[in-house]
Amino acid sequence: MGKLRIGIIGCGDAARRHYLPALAVLADGIELVGCSDARPAAARGLAALARGWSPRVRAFGQLTDLLEEARPEAIFNLTPARPCTPRSARSACSPVFMSTREKPIASSVEEADRLIEMASSSGLTLLCAPASAVTRRVRWLADVVASGRLGRPTLAVAQCATTGPAAWASTPATRTVFYGPGVGPVLDVGIYRLHELTTILGPVRRVQATGTIAIPRRTVVAGPLAGRTIEVTTPDHVLMNLEFASGALGQLLSSFATLATQAPWLEVHLSEGSISLTGDPFGSDGPASCFGPGGWEHGIFRAAARGPAAGHRHGREALRQLRGGTGEADSDGRARSARAGDRACGL
Ligand SMILES: NC(=O)c1ccc[n+]([C@@H]2O[C@H](COP(=O)([O-])OP(=O)(O)OC[C@H]3O[C@@H](n4cnc5c(N)ncnc54)[C@H](O)[C@@H]3O)[C@@H](O)[C@H]2O)c1
Repeated sequence: MGKLRIGIIGCGDAARRHYLPALAVLADGIELVGCSDARPAAARGLAALARGWSPRVRAFGQLTDLLEEARPEAIFNLTPARPCTPRSARSACSPVFMSTREKPIASSVEEADRLIEMASSSGLTLLCAPASAVTRRVRWLADVVASGRLGRPTLAVAQCATTGPAAWASTPATRTVFYGPGVGPVLDVGIYRLHELTTILGPVRRVQATGTIAIPRRTVVAGPLAGRTIEVTTPDHVLMNLEFASGALGQLLSSFATLATQAPWLEVHLSEGSISLTGDPFGSDGPASCFGPGGWEHGIFRAAARGPAAGHRHGREALRQLRGGTGEADSDGRARSARAGDRACGL
């Protein structure tokens, strides 16, 4: 059997730093056949980086050319949320059997519905980031909550608070879009917490949110736009209150205007205990603390779950995160990705 033919749309920071190294490890079974970007130089640059393990890879300025000439069987769509139009997202699905999108799944709930319907009626696999609900820490937390060992979950408090990509030392090429309508901190980073919250606590029936532009101008510190000023045109602090179908409550801070924080990134309070996750939410290792009948216990997770596609969400589950992120409540069944977790904190 030949190697699986892969195409990448959007050849920026995520493609270079995260996806390409992971794909290179799988080179025995896959081949990168094409890279496409609205900036042809970015497509050429990514193709050059992959040529060592995918010698036939080609660069394209147009997605249609990638699809027609390189004929990939699977696509990674790594364009930021807003610039990926419904048209490009749709065409990215048609001739391939698998399409994986960076989060969120689409720019609107309607577009997500169309994508899911198209994938389902054509027998295509549609996957979407983020992968955070299948890390060991979150799977363990979901397992403890589901077991009932600490009673019934009543409240979750979460945050994803950063300054946003203008201040990151890594080099996203299109940083301005992250501070504008259609992206912003809820859809770019808060979505990780929404994804974990709905995995652990189930669907949300009501959402209430308020936001403000706290720091209206940013100076980019690195990358092609270094030194450039970005005008912030969408709320960079957003506070969200969630009411889960179970009756539990949730609170989420999504921010691109927070210089630093020491708050846990996820805490779940149950009728007979509390669980707190701290440290770097994007790191593979991290502390977890658990308050139960014996008081506080603390543990460290040493590694995150890894594996091809294991971390990605099927379209319908990704839509739940998008609905949360766009303020639309979800009455569907509970999204369950947690598997039997690891014992930690003595539980
Ligand atoms: N950079 C990271 O560390 C990181 C980590 C996790 C997730 N992500 C997600 O990955 C996505 C991309 O982020 P990034 O940091 O790589 O951004 P980036 O700006 O560095 O790269 C995006 C690339 O997509 C291209 N592009 C945009 N719209 C396009 C279109 N319609 N057709 C073709 N090309 C188009 C741009 O020219 C650019 O090269 C975002 O959704 C982001 O949230 C990024």
